[in-house]
Amino acid sequence: MKNYITIKDKIKKFNKKIEVSGDKSISIRCVLLASQAIGKSKIYNLLESDDVLNSLRSIKKLGIEYKKIKNYYEIYGFGISGFNTHKKTVINAGNSGTFARLILGLLVDSKNQIEVKGDQSLSKRDFSRITEPLSLFGANFFSEKKKLPLKITGTEFLRPIKYNEELGSAQCKSAVMLAALKTAGITKIKAKKSRNHTELLFRKLGVPIKIIKKANYDYIEVKGKYNFKGFEYHVPGDISSSSFFIVLTLLSRNSSLTIKNVNINNTRTGIIHILNKMNAKILFKNKRKMNGELISDILIKSRNRFKSINCPKKYNSSAIDEFLVIFLVAAKAEGVSTFSELDELNKKESPRLEIAINFLRKIGIKVIRNKNDIKIYGNPYLNLSGNYIIKNFMKDHRVMMMSTIAALTLGGKWKIYDASSSKTSFPEFFKIIKKLGANIF
Ligand code: S3P
Repeated sequence: MKNYITIKDKIKKFNKKIEVSGDKSISIRCVLLASQAIGKSKIYNLLESDDVLNSLRSIKKLGIEYKKIKNYYEIYGFGISGFNTHKKTVINAGNSGTFARLILGLLVDSKNQIEVKGDQSLSKRDFSRITEPLSLFGANFFSEKKKLPLKITGTEFLRPIKYNEELGSAQCKSAVMLAALKTAGITKIKAKKSRNHTELLFRKLGVPIKIIKKANYDYIEVKGKYNFKGFEYHVPGDISSSSFFIVLTLLSRNSSLTIKNVNINNTRTGIIHILNKMNAKILFKNKRKMNGELISDILIKSRNRFKSINCPKKYNSSAIDEFLVIFLVAAKAEGVSTFSELDELNKKESPRLEIAINFLRKIGIKVIRNKNDIKIYGNPYLNLSGNYIIKNFMKDHRVMMMSTIAALTLGGKWKIYDASSSKTSFPEFFKIIKKLGANIF
């Protein structure tokens, strides 16, 4: 079956209101925490992408039932010791690093050995960042080369740990917080700033948690063995999915877009700060709080001129999933933009720093790399006319969607492979982009 798209025209001017699907990070956390609650949870607007559907199928293998009813999912938990594990259970995390790492946190007390595996891309990613802290709780891991597939055997004699999270990884922080739920006593975490959805959910559920915020680090204490009840949650729109339309609008001519009900938690809005420093003038309207998260409509208008940026490192974590599209704006900016210490970008679903550099060079943009720092030499007159084929060997959903935005705004004739990878995080991507008027075949 054909698994590529062709794009031959730039998108024409548009003026629309859209809504994107539910936030992926929050959806996965809701599924996992509902699996630990006592009784029924109801999750509205759950993202129905492969990463989240794999999470649902996996908790079912661990004895947790769920049902879709109208526009919400019901999940029926039995408390923090409620997984019913069997010998030889295999959990398939598919492409999802977040799910694979977070579920390991919840398996630290499993009496039976559980295998966690993933697809080709996930099997290339490092898991020692998770197995090391989780081993300190008392769990045992068996794996080759610290990667998936790996097996975990937990213990009922868990001990709380002190953990220093230095990567700015919310996945590592959250896996440890979930393991702390299962552990009597107080687990203490010093974590470099990263997305804080797990902390906000713990607060909502009444889990005893203390957070002291400092400039670059948060000090978090979780007291374990607290059983919480089933809960209701309305998942807000995903800023990472929104980012494709933000950049599409900025780089198009005379267009404007409102994206409704997006999560603009400040641990996720690096992209907005960065683009606004580049002269984007993106606005928030109707800001309100729900479940501790900040939600808003986002207003974007096309811009003719972008300034280059010396991107502050403090945004690296809060923009980590958006750098691919941010680089497209840097490619059209006046002057040289610099981005530094992007080591983590190479550890995603594909080595995105490398992929981005090759992509930018392919479209005629000069890029200089020094280790994990890059300089992008912008060209405000960039207007392509050649043929471009994007193979996307690692089937990275964000590489595919970024390439589609480039094709619709920069000109040229494009053939982009693995269009179906949008199902990983954003199955509605093509539906929305066609609604905005894009010609995609
Ligand atoms: C995520 C955290 C980030 C991000 C990923 C989702 C999460 O990864 O790249 O897409 O939901 O916690 P790291 O925490 O490893 O940086």
